[in-house]
Amino acid sequence: MKVLVVDSGGRGHSIAWQFKNDPNVKEVICTPGNAGIALDVRCENARTNEEILELAKKEKADLVFIGPESPLTKGIVDLFASEKIPIVGPQRKAAILEGSKAYTKMLCREIGVPAAEFEVFDNPEKAKDYIEYVKYPVVVKADGLAQGKGSIVCSDAKDAINAINHLMVEKVFEEAGQKVVIEKRLYGTEISFFVFTDGDALAPMPVAQDYKRAYDNDEGLNTGGMGSYSPHRLEGDELTRLVCEKVAMPLIKGFREKEGVPYKGILYCGLMLVGDIPHLLEANVRFGDPEAEVILPRLKTPLTDISFQIINGVLSEKRAEWSQDFYCDVVAAAGRTKQMKHGRSKGWYPGYPARYGKGYPISGLENIQDPDCKIFFAGVSNSETKGMVTDGGRVLHIVGRGNTLQDARTVAYANIEKIHFDGMRYRTDIGKE
Ligand code: AMP
Ligand code: GLY
Repeated sequence: MKVLVVDSGGRGHSIAWQFKNDPNVKEVICTPGNAGIALDVRCENARTNEEILELAKKEKADLVFIGPESPLTKGIVDLFASEKIPIVGPQRKAAILEGSKAYTKMLCREIGVPAAEFEVFDNPEKAKDYIEYVKYPVVVKADGLAQGKGSIVCSDAKDAINAINHLMVEKVFEEAGQKVVIEKRLYGTEISFFVFTDGDALAPMPVAQDYKRAYDNDEGLNTGGMGSYSPHRLEGDELTRLVCEKVAMPLIKGFREKEGVPYKGILYCGLMLVGDIPHLLEANVRFGDPEAEVILPRLKTPLTDISFQIINGVLSEKRAEWSQDFYCDVVAAAGRTKQMKHGRSKGWYPGYPARYGKGYPISGLENIQDPDCKIFFAGVSNSETKGMVTDGGRVLHIVGRGNTLQDARTVAYANIEKIHFDGMRYRTDIGKE
């Protein structure tokens, strides 16, 4: 079987890697991929949905698997349906669960999925009045897609007013922030919970912990994720039952009943456990990144089998099996660097998730020979003169495996120390409990 994976980062690399080790698979192609993914599988340069369809047809792909949300919200599954090429992911109408936070909050309210109290605004003055009125700390969220940076967690009303100005007045995320959701800030334990679903049945996955803030001790700005680990200490039948019953199943059923179309693919529930009750913070229509990098290595069932069960609507026939190994992913990110032009300093870039430099050579990768360590490549490219160089904010995912969380994190940290690029920065507390 030939599988086409659509992604450009570490999540895509872990998906491609999973398929590469799948006994049903002869060849994996990744588009657009990156210079590091290309060390494992062939990469092609199709970027728009139409180009991806052309590539899938040219390559006679037997299965297409989508990593990020953007091709899904733009309707890639609907496009492929007309060509009858098997593809994993929700159709455009169902991708609204990630495409509009306001939609998903309203659905939760209608069907009784636990979530923070909220209101939706398209007028900044009314939004500010609401903040003064509610008194409690809030989170201000751009309704649309904003590359994981559209939610601003506020400590007080002043922060929240600034957030409204940022999203609605300065329009930093353009039309994604025309409408905002203002919700009550919740306190508790945050986890990432994923299910496979064929629109009817669901198969839960293990639980992962994502580290969203840029710096140790959860300080600094929100990022796409600076590291992760799995299994989570709370993982188990009881938590799985609770989340499936209270959140995942009602969402899948509620969506189908309301819109008349099934939600198929992967559903990502970003949850806050408040006491025992899982509250939905966000729904995403794909694997998380860096969660996929620690969950997929635990999958023992071929991902092709699960993919076709989703596509054919027979997911309930078989349960996915998972190993009990621990995986810990530490992200090497683009940190603070001095910018030079013609030998003169242009000042400093602060580093990811704010502005960062690119094109720094990456050294030391050849020193990683540990069979318990795998690198999933994210923001990298090839330079003719410098070899592999940095090309993004999150550059590398260094994933360690172990029989305990402590072992897995020791492997990840021992190996990340062998790697170097200018400005390289990572959190030192991933998996530290
Ligand atoms: P979102 O874009 O909705 O996933 O939010 C990004 C991050 O902001 C989440 O992963 C949480 O860490 C935090 N967050 C979102 N909503 C809330 C909330 N209601 N209370 C506390 N933290 C939140
Ligand atoms: N790790 C968070 C995300 O993938 O959205």
